[in-house]
Amino acid sequence: MDNHAADIGLIGLGTMGANLALNIAENGFRVAVHNRTVEKIEGFMHDAGPLTSQLVACDTVEELIRAIKPPRAVILMVPAGPVVDEYIATLRALMDDDDIVIDAGNANFQDTNRRAASGAPFLGIGVSGGEEGARFGPSIMGGGRKVHWDRVAPILQAIAADYQGTPCATWMGEGGAGHAVKTVHNGIEYADMQMIAEAYGIMRDGMGLQPAQIGAVFEGWNTGALKSYLMEISATVSKAVDPQTNAPVLDIILDRAGQKGTGRWTAIEAQHLGVPATVIEAAVAARNLSSRLEMRIKGESLFGAAPQRLADGQLTIDTLGNALIAGKIMCYTQGFELLAALSAAHNWTLPMPEIAKVWREGCIIRSTMLNDMANALSESPDANLMFSDFFARLMRETQTDLRQTVSLAAQSGLPAPALSAGLSYFDMMRTGQSTANLIQAQRDFFGAHGFERRDAEGAHHGPWGSN
Ligand code: 6PG
Repeated sequence: MDNHAADIGLIGLGTMGANLALNIAENGFRVAVHNRTVEKIEGFMHDAGPLTSQLVACDTVEELIRAIKPPRAVILMVPAGPVVDEYIATLRALMDDDDIVIDAGNANFQDTNRRAASGAPFLGIGVSGGEEGARFGPSIMGGGRKVHWDRVAPILQAIAADYQGTPCATWMGEGGAGHAVKTVHNGIEYADMQMIAEAYGIMRDGMGLQPAQIGAVFEGWNTGALKSYLMEISATVSKAVDPQTNAPVLDIILDRAGQKGTGRWTAIEAQHLGVPATVIEAAVAARNLSSRLEMRIKGESLFGAAPQRLADGQLTIDTLGNALIAGKIMCYTQGFELLAALSAAHNWTLPMPEIAKVWREGCIIRSTMLNDMANALSESPDANLMFSDFFARLMRETQTDLRQTVSLAAQSGLPAPALSAGLSYFDMMRTGQSTANLIQAQRDFFGAHGFERRDAEGAHHGPWGSN
């Protein structure tokens, strides 16, 4: 056997791919690497330092295949979409039947389902944690056939983040299950980020706090129930100063948010499956609205800016923090409901407690609360999260603060769409008698769709003709 014999291959040396390759190498595995632009391979090898000895640079896919010990596994870290299909076709033509292709990009799980359906060994793995995670320990959500996962699990578990000794790399189910879990992760990521941004807006415009003061609040929140990676980095970015101008960095960043689409996919899937993921939907819509900068400026000149400033002491930092806790519970309740619906729709058995566990470290949404969720879901995996003992108690403790925050924000023209969506969801979920009886009457009136009666079985119609 060639003395270059690599344990695994990796194609795509962009930021994520390069860092993942170094992570694999650092964990004692030999990695064959390839990139379409060959200069990138040279640069990567040059920067790899002492890890170079664990890396085999391959100028062509053919070389890469020759460099890997059979049965082979090749990770694709290339842009989601047609590029993945192109590489799969190229690899399949060169690979043995039991060689595995692993798509580690942010694929749409429907594409992963389609790719897995060809029958050739294929894994779709969601990798979360950004650049830093890829290099030092991401959270990995695996999908595909279990036998194939088991073959590469030793490598994936070695490179993953670990939570108190438990690796954050878990097989979620067949086909696109791993990418589906990653998609919901990203939807939640959007919502977590949006709710923190709403709290920032309330503090900046409602309370008149400066970025550094807001950073200090985030830092304080990062010691309690809201402790999370996103809270931590929100504190850091809020306190950062722009070296060019000495102004707070936040003040010089244009308020127009980008997105690559995974949050939107989550909202689309929720709509497809009839799951109310309203907090995530609000977060996606808020990003869309943020990009309409010119329109917003026009709106401000037409209608005038809202008053925004709250009276001193009208809203406390503690109340706002509790509002975030309640909003977060609503968001995750919806996220896990969506996962349950995806599981049923695609004949998976998505392991809810394991999902909460794999998100405890390495990924962007990692937080203390995820450990509590893992515990709550372990006790009753099928239960709605907000009805579990732990989170029901937390909701009882924090819901009035969410209500106060949302109502003060509304009165002052401080946009808080995700927190508001969380509050509305909570209120609807605690309403035994909703207003849908009127909807049913309307439907029956114009379309004879029928309705159920409270006092009798079966489908009924209203006396509309006789009125
Ligand atoms: C992760 C992230 C990552 C995502 C970026 C950007 O889990 O590491 O979700 O996969 O690509 O966060 O996403 P947007 O461009 O859509 O904000």
